[in-house]
Amino acid sequence: MSARTLLITGGAGFIGSHVVRLFIGSHPEYRIVNLDALTYAGNLENLSDIESASNHVFVHADITDEKAIDRVFSEHAVDAVIHLAAESHVDRSILDPLSFIRTNVMGTAVLLNTARRYWKDRQDVLFYHVSTDEVYGSLGDTGLFTEETPYDPRSPYSASKASSDHLVKAYHHTYRLPVVISNCSNNYGSHQFPEKLIPLMINNIVHRKPLPVYGEGLNVRDWLWVEDHARAIEVVFHQGRNGETYNIGGFNEWRNIDLVHLLCRIMDEKLGRAEGDSASLITFVKDRAGHDQRYAIDASKIHRELGWSPTLQFEEGLRRTVDWYLQNPTWVEHITSGSYLEYYQRQYSNR
Ligand code: NAD
Ligand code: TYD
Repeated sequence: MSARTLLITGGAGFIGSHVVRLFIGSHPEYRIVNLDALTYAGNLENLSDIESASNHVFVHADITDEKAIDRVFSEHAVDAVIHLAAESHVDRSILDPLSFIRTNVMGTAVLLNTARRYWKDRQDVLFYHVSTDEVYGSLGDTGLFTEETPYDPRSPYSASKASSDHLVKAYHHTYRLPVVISNCSNNYGSHQFPEKLIPLMINNIVHRKPLPVYGEGLNVRDWLWVEDHARAIEVVFHQGRNGETYNIGGFNEWRNIDLVHLLCRIMDEKLGRAEGDSASLITFVKDRAGHDQRYAIDASKIHRELGWSPTLQFEEGLRRTVDWYLQNPTWVEHITSGSYLEYYQRQYSNR
C-alpha cells in the first residue's frame, strides 16, 4: 500500500522509536505522525536524533482520548496506522490490571473506531496492529506457536493484548476495515525501559545490585533483536496480506538463568571485572504469579511469504545492547527517576 500519512502510536517507546527511526530513514515519501502519551515508558530522548526530521510530527496524546484521536485523523488526513502504543510489562499488569485494559483494549477500540469513521469503505488504507506471542498462552517443553495456535492468554497483559487482537479482527470482518496483525516474541536492544529482564539485569550489574531471577530461572523466552522486529514490521506493513496474522520471532530460545549467566559473563568482560563477579549478584526471588513457562515462535510464515528472517546472532546483539547502556548512563538515569523508582521499590520490597 502507498500511504501518504502514516500514524505510528507509541513511537516514543522502545520498539516504536526503532520503527519510527526506520521509517523516517527509509521512507522519505511518508509523513510520519508519531502519537504518544509519554507515560513512564515513553521518552522523547528516544527520538532525539530524528525529532526534527522534516517528515516527522510528534503529537502528545492518549489513545483513549476520542476527541484527540479524532482531531489527529482529521488534521493530518491519516492513511494508515501502525499501532504500538500499549502498557507492556507483565509485572505491572499483575499490580494494576485496569490501566492495561484501559490503554490496550479501550485505546485500540478508540483507534479502530476512529479509523472506520474516517476511512469509511476505503480499501487503500491499513490498520496494522502490533501484538505479542503471549496471546497464545504458555508452551510445555516442546512445540512452537503458529498463527493457528488458539488464543489462551493468562496474564492481564496478555489478556488485554488478546482482546485488542480480537477487536482488530472483528473490525475487519464486520466493517471490512483493511487490517494486518503481527505477534512477536520478546524483543531486546537499545532504549528498552530497565524493568524488562535484559536492561534490568544490565543496570543492576552496573550498580552491583542483586539480580532478581524469578523462581528457579527455568522459564524460556524466544529473544529477537529489536531492529529485526522493526524491519519485520516494515515488511508486513508493505507486503502483508489484508486480514492476515504474521508471527515474528528469533528462533532463539533461552532459559532465563542461562541468559542471565551469559549477560554476566559479557558484563564482567566489558567492565573489566573478575570472571564470576556479576554472577555472584544472582538472587532467586519469589516467582511471578501465573508465570508462563515457555514462549517460542514459529516464524516460518513471514519467512516463506514475505522473505523476512532475523539477522543478528544473539550474543552479538547482547554485546551491542550492553555497549549502548554503558554509553548512555544519562538516558538510564532520566528514565529511572521518579515514579519508576517508587514502583520498583514497592515491587521488590514484597519479596
Ligand atoms: P513500551 O512500554 O516501551 O512503549 C509503549 C509506548 O506506548 C510508550 O511510549 C508509552 O508512552 C506509549 N503509551 C502507553 N499508553 C499510552 C496511551 N494510553 N496513549 C498513547 N501512548 C501510550 O512498549 P514496547 O516494548 O515498545 O512495545 C510496543 C508494542 O509492541 C506493544 O503493543 C507491545 O504489546 C508490543 N510487543 C512488545 C514486545 C516486547 O518484547 N517489548 C514483544 C511483542 C510485542
Ligand atoms: P520480561 O522481560 O518481563 O518479559 P515477559 O514477561 O513479557 O516475557 O521477562 C522475561 C522473563 O524474565 C520472564 O520469564 C520473567 C523473567 N524475569 C526475571 O526472572 N526477573 C526479572 O527481574 C524480570 C523483569 C523478569
